[in-house]
Amino acid sequence: MFDQLSALPADPLLGLISIYRDDTNPNKVDLGVGVYRDETGHTAIMSAIQKAARQHMETEDSKTYIGPQGVPGFVSGIKSLVFGTASSALSNQRVAGIQTPGGCGALRVGAELLKRVKGELTIWVSDPTWANHIPLMKSAGLEIKPYPYFNIETGAVNFEAMDAQLAKLGPNDIVLLHGCCHNPTGADLSFENWQQVAKRASEQGFIPFVDIAYQGLGDGLEEDVKGIRYLSEQVEELIVATSCSKNFGLYRERTGCLMIQTKNSEQADAIQTQIQDVARANYSMSPAYGGYLVDIILSNDALRTEWKNELDSMALRVKSLRSGLLENIQQQGIDKDFSFITQQKGMFSYLGINIEQVRQLRNEFSIYMADSSRINVAGLNTQCLEYVAKALKSVL
Ligand code: LMR
Repeated sequence: MFDQLSALPADPLLGLISIYRDDTNPNKVDLGVGVYRDETGHTAIMSAIQKAARQHMETEDSKTYIGPQGVPGFVSGIKSLVFGTASSALSNQRVAGIQTPGGCGALRVGAELLKRVKGELTIWVSDPTWANHIPLMKSAGLEIKPYPYFNIETGAVNFEAMDAQLAKLGPNDIVLLHGCCHNPTGADLSFENWQQVAKRASEQGFIPFVDIAYQGLGDGLEEDVKGIRYLSEQVEELIVATSCSKNFGLYRERTGCLMIQTKNSEQADAIQTQIQDVARANYSMSPAYGGYLVDIILSNDALRTEWKNELDSMALRVKSLRSGLLENIQQQGIDKDFSFITQQKGMFSYLGINIEQVRQLRNEFSIYMADSSRINVAGLNTQCLEYVAKALKSVL
């Protein structure tokens, strides 16, 4: 039976981990997978997470099941973190929520929930979007179509083209949006753009599905969710998938949350049972550990402040690496305008170079990035900026 199945190519992002690891060049630079790194290239455990883990170890007295929703304090903490304490949807109990195995789990449970809705739905994804969005949604059996998003010439959002597409959508459409720190381009919607998206959603009846995996790594914890919060107040129904991989550094603990905003609290109660049922039919329930740690941090003022401060400093470091990279590129006298690097937000930037140049950087300079020319800015450090800029000049 299994001889019918052949080997698949490596994952476009995760596949880079092992090729980078096997490279013996001492100057190698890993700008591949979206993982935050410090100046030494290490992905340290955040200090608040370490403290929460110690506290959890001392207090956890059972490993029995926690129930289909996950850690309740985690789900309510994430709801407030994303929707805000002033959210009318939250105070009216219109938001169902479930802890999920990472942001991927949240996206997948959201997609499977949509599959249960009558009618042929289409999910619209930004062109380009995160490499795993399409397989995740497609394998849930949904139809995927791209909407125009990025202007490669300017390195910014082509909102006019995006808006023109949104104007043609209707109630059978779902629009997948990146809450902040767009992956892979780093080009974010402005607040005015979010306002227009909300207007289109209300007029046309499509449902926004927001993936937010980098809250706090762009302009700050509150600023990064301004778009989502505005949408939440303007539209009746909204789906939000969030991840604690980057902002809590919980990558391997697979900690995420799916939140579904509905028209009223009765519908939220019904949807709560539906998403729990989707989870039960797939993996029964999410691993609890990461949820406990996040819950401890969000419900303790001192730990929360410590976590926020560390997150702010991570975001600041990425911003200064953006400026440093641009400065070094300009010093090389490269005849291409890369100033978009400092305008983009979050961990990623799209260099806009072609696949041959990406391969040349990998083969000749051991600089690793996604084939699309997406770089993880957090993989840079002050020591390698000149090396990367020189290599870039050489391949251009
Ligand atoms: C990325 O985009 O590199 C990260 O989100 C890791 C992943 O799972 O793809």
